[in-house]
Amino acid sequence: MSDQSSTNASWGGRFSEPTDAFVARYTASVDFDRRMYRQDIQGSVAHAKMLCKVGVLTEQERDDIIRGLEEVRIEIERGDFEWSVALEDVHMNIEAALTKKIGITGKKLHTGRSRNDQVATDIRLYLRDEIDAISAELTRLQQGLAELAEKEADTIMPGFTHLQTAQPVTFGHHLLAWNAMLERDYARLQDCRARMNQLPLGAAALAGTTYPIDRFYTAELLGFDAPTENSLDSVSDRDFAIEFCSAAALIMMHMSRFSEELVLWASAQFRFIDLPDRFCTGSSIMPQKKNPDVPELVRGKTGRVYGHLVGLLTLMKSQPLAYNKDNQEDKEPLFDTVDTLRDSLRAFADMAPNLIARKDDMREAAMRGFSTATDLADYVVRKGIPFRDAHEIVGKAVGYGVKTGKDLSEMTLKELQQFSTEITADVFDVLTLEGSVAARNHIGGTAPDQVRAAAARAKAALAQR
Ligand code: ARG
Repeated sequence: MSDQSSTNASWGGRFSEPTDAFVARYTASVDFDRRMYRQDIQGSVAHAKMLCKVGVLTEQERDDIIRGLEEVRIEIERGDFEWSVALEDVHMNIEAALTKKIGITGKKLHTGRSRNDQVATDIRLYLRDEIDAISAELTRLQQGLAELAEKEADTIMPGFTHLQTAQPVTFGHHLLAWNAMLERDYARLQDCRARMNQLPLGAAALAGTTYPIDRFYTAELLGFDAPTENSLDSVSDRDFAIEFCSAAALIMMHMSRFSEELVLWASAQFRFIDLPDRFCTGSSIMPQKKNPDVPELVRGKTGRVYGHLVGLLTLMKSQPLAYNKDNQEDKEPLFDTVDTLRDSLRAFADMAPNLIARKDDMREAAMRGFSTATDLADYVVRKGIPFRDAHEIVGKAVGYGVKTGKDLSEMTLKELQQFSTEITADVFDVLTLEGSVAARNHIGGTAPDQVRAAAARAKAALAQR
């Protein structure tokens, strides 16, 4: 990257001395905004086509610009492009390179636009592409979860509240809980994409332009639903980026919960799952270790995504209309959010379908902690006893179980009848783990049949995306 300081050719007309070398570096954004070179060129090609359509450029000029921009793109992708800090940002670097290639016509490209509406357009194009890529990873993760849920529809594990054994659930049901969160996350991303899919170009610096531009045509060329309504808002608004970061923060929050459970479950204390070796690392000192680095990192990276959300909100707070240079600071948090989210989803989409359920350990854990106590209470209620009394009866039975080291299902009928004479032999249908989960047979319940149906619905919905 060259960084010789000089008066910038794009705006240096009124200046009598070159920009201070440090200030040039301090104010430049090319180090990071060059990431949007593809969208910058895409926007410029559409702008040139529109300028030709309305008679501002000739067809020859339009074609020269498009050809020149195409050459620039190829050079950038080959790694031959010389980025210059003196040219500040991606926009002026590309425009200067174009002018070097095609001469004076290159300077006409910027007619009727400003970097203010140009950058607003580039970010939207960029974020739209990234939302699509992120949505694809999210879908892949959901598909993996739905498939695994179908396979694990009958697998029984303890369900928890307060991280204490509560009631038995099926592992498939638990997997589909994660899927339900991700389903809302997906919808939020699509909402955000739909709201931001409007073209700011044509707002120019802030007030619009005197050229006879056709913003509907440019919008159509770039796949935007419509031009934005207000030029001042167009160049200063970054709420779409905040909205994306907020959707990203929610996804990471969900993934951090998911991660926390995987880390716990992979421990020797829980032993509910095995993570495939390729998603884990070892310890250089403790030979027995297999560490769940991927979920740990996802959990850890959630913090930086939250940080970027707060950073962007603070960046925008109290900014007067219209564009302010502050807005250049939107990119690094946004880019890092995109990278972090996309990589985290990718890692999980690769890993989740390959979780190995340790069914026997899960079952054994569900046998501990009196997870069918509620089932026994419901049973006694069905025999005509008020719930409050039933609660008391089962509480005593559990106390007896704690003393004798027996689960409710391991007690004899006689033992159970000490607590209520209403209890008869059919009690064992509800005291087993299988009986307990099968009885919760309604939509949204944990019964294996419901889990199979829910997984099938999820898979069908995902196939429609
Ligand atoms: N690099 C700038 C940004 O990211 C582009 C817009 C600059 N506009 C200006 N008037 N200096 O916001």
